[in-house]
Amino acid sequence: MITLIGYMGSGKSSVGKALASKLGLAFCDLDDEIEFQSGRDIAFIFKNYGEFFFRKLERKILKEQLHKTNSILSLGGGTPCFYNNIDLINKQSTSFYLQSTPTILQSRLEKEKEARPIISSLDNNELLAFIEHNLVERKKYYSKAKHVIINTDLAQSVNQIITLSHENIH
Ligand code: S3P
Repeated sequence: MITLIGYMGSGKSSVGKALASKLGLAFCDLDDEIEFQSGRDIAFIFKNYGEFFFRKLERKILKEQLHKTNSILSLGGGTPCFYNNIDLINKQSTSFYLQSTPTILQSRLEKEKEARPIISSLDNNELLAFIEHNLVERKKYYSKAKHVIINTDLAQSVNQIITLSHENIH
């Protein structure tokens, strides 16, 4: 099992899908699985049940997904940063942190804020400062990933992950 972690907008889903298709492995996006299992979208869950409820559900579904083998799992931006999720992730998978700069993240996220409750109420001027601040907090967790990939080019990231995980796809 390979897991992809990183901030919102870091390319976890795109890289995950491309990687799975190149390796002929199954792909799962944790957010999609949460929405599928709960029958609600992420924004609805945050708005109506709150973040604490979401984090508990996220952890439960993370644990289930980590039992799978021969697959690629893209996590939510916050998944490694709550409870001891990062330890579970590292115990049961080979983890890759997809790193991007705050400026790149900002330009991607400006267009995709609506579905992301953590940033949906920020205006575009506030977004960069929020990302910079939030990344300082989250780097403590992201940097525990087994490998770091500087994600600037999708095909290059996919190839780097394949090279680095050569012995570890299980
Ligand atoms: C979150 C990231 C989102 C989703 C939720 C919370 C976060 O996933 O899990 O909106 O706390 O960073 P993506 O990173 O896939 O956008």
